[in-house]
Amino acid sequence: MYILLMNVAQKFGWESVDGAPVAEVGSFKGSFFTFLQKVASGRLEDLAGGPLFLLLEKYFHKYGPVYKLAFGPRSFIVVSDPVMAKHLLKSNVGAYDKGVLASILEPIMGKGLIPADPQTWKVRRRAIVPGFHKRWLNRMMRLFAECNEALLDQVGHAADEGRTLDMEEKFCSVSLDIIGRAVFNYDFGSTNKESPAVYRVLREAEHRSSSFIPYWKLPFATQLLASQVEFSADMRLLNDVLDELISKAVATQQVADVEELESRDLDVAEDPSLLRFLIDMRGEDTTSKQLRDDLMTMLIAGHETTAAVLTWTLFNLAQNPELTARVQAEIDAVLGPDRLPEFDDLAPLQLTRLALVEALRLYPEPPVLIRRALREDALPPGGTGTPIRLPRGSDVFISTWNLHRSPALWDAPQEYNPERFMRPHSNPAVTGWNGYDPKVGLAGLYPNEIASDFAFLPFGGGQRKCVGDQFALMEATVTLALLLRRFDLSLAGPPEATGMVTGATIHTANGLMMRARRREPSAAAAAAAAAAAGVNGHHHHRHGG
Ligand code: HEM
Repeated sequence: MYILLMNVAQKFGWESVDGAPVAEVGSFKGSFFTFLQKVASGRLEDLAGGPLFLLLEKYFHKYGPVYKLAFGPRSFIVVSDPVMAKHLLKSNVGAYDKGVLASILEPIMGKGLIPADPQTWKVRRRAIVPGFHKRWLNRMMRLFAECNEALLDQVGHAADEGRTLDMEEKFCSVSLDIIGRAVFNYDFGSTNKESPAVYRVLREAEHRSSSFIPYWKLPFATQLLASQVEFSADMRLLNDVLDELISKAVATQQVADVEELESRDLDVAEDPSLLRFLIDMRGEDTTSKQLRDDLMTMLIAGHETTAAVLTWTLFNLAQNPELTARVQAEIDAVLGPDRLPEFDDLAPLQLTRLALVEALRLYPEPPVLIRRALREDALPPGGTGTPIRLPRGSDVFISTWNLHRSPALWDAPQEYNPERFMRPHSNPAVTGWNGYDPKVGLAGLYPNEIASDFAFLPFGGGQRKCVGDQFALMEATVTLALLLRRFDLSLAGPPEATGMVTGATIHTANGLMMRARRREPSAAAAAAAAAAAGVNGHHHHRHGG
């Protein structure tokens, strides 16, 4: 058994990274066999004694912004420093790939953007990015609102019946419905019913991306582990759905230049999806397999991440009623009692936006970014004073969790305070963000890694930065605004009962159990909306908040 597993280890290139002049921390003392058993059963958290990123945080406070973590047979360099993060993600990005993450995700995402090798990545990134053009994002605002109708209905029923709700589950459903329609014009309808196959595939994908040893690749794993058998069946089902959507789209292909595609009237288009765009784009002769990988990757990347931001935002707002009241007043003032959010509403919904961004600071998804050195490299000194030598093959974790909670970078880092982003000069990490700047347009609406010089990495940075960042933030802003306009939500139990577990995203342990009460928009907002309607017969935007 031992020898067999060692071979597996060698195959994946898990050579040690001895020689790095950094503090070395052992975290697992049991036998190698127990270690593998625990990993194989997915109980990595047992090894760390809780969510892994919390262990990484404990050592960060003890050993500083870079240290080496030995984990059974493997070790990782853990980085919690903005200068080093910038080096890894941007300045010397060519020296790194996704390492262990790529081998974990490849069976599910194939050559999709997240695990893709550099050659494939370059071609596909260039094809996909134009799909997220401004007019498309604009059109998506309507989709976000439509998909939220079912959610609002359900929360309304629960409010009327005095039932508690798991809001995390609701956010997962609505974000799945949204991503299905946006990416390939498919209605999962999951807010109204269960779609177990998709959920199980997505769960498994997540589970895998948080396990460091690809246990499903062990010989006979597919036969041995019941969950793996189910997973194979689920994958076939989901692949069939995607293949069918792709062939349908190919059958109705209308080739056009990118400029033409970007100026298509998406308000009347029957299918405004990304798939349609990718298939119609001139010069794109991608295989169906590649398209399937692209769609699957975006489905997984864009689903639980957005749900998690909403979950943790609501969790924190529920504990800050005074702040929540101000967010609701802003929503009332901008949207009035009934109007659906449009693109131009995003700028004045400032506190609403920042409430989400602050949740991304405290609960970054994923909480660690994973890289592997393709050749020997040296990390810049950053906060440590000396450069760090990284031998070829070193596995690196960038802890965004630690960066986002670093006392060196943030005032009162553990506190949920969206308004910290409005005081640009009080936090070294956010000196570059001076509030919404219309000159920067959409990109200026939400603080990011550029404004913070890599101290704040909600969507990563450099060339592998998230392609769905604006989409996700707009989606979350619409969802939160529509929900808080109609309902007051409070935690059904003490905050500690919610719990926290690691996946690729940070989940609650026990669901986000809440009680909802219907609310009326404030009288002032109703009056303002009525006045605006009287002035021009149409809505009118008020700035400020
Ligand atoms: C990459 C976060 C939503 C598609 C990433 C990365 C992060 C991230 C941190 C960089 C990973 C790394 O460097 O290792 C998030 C968060 C989201 C979100 C927090 C929601 C709030 C979305 C959505 C989509 C998407 C909605 C698609 C519609 C992708 C893709 C990549 C990526 C394709 C890989 C990009 C590349 O390697 O070129 N995301 N994401 N994400 N994300 Fe997102």
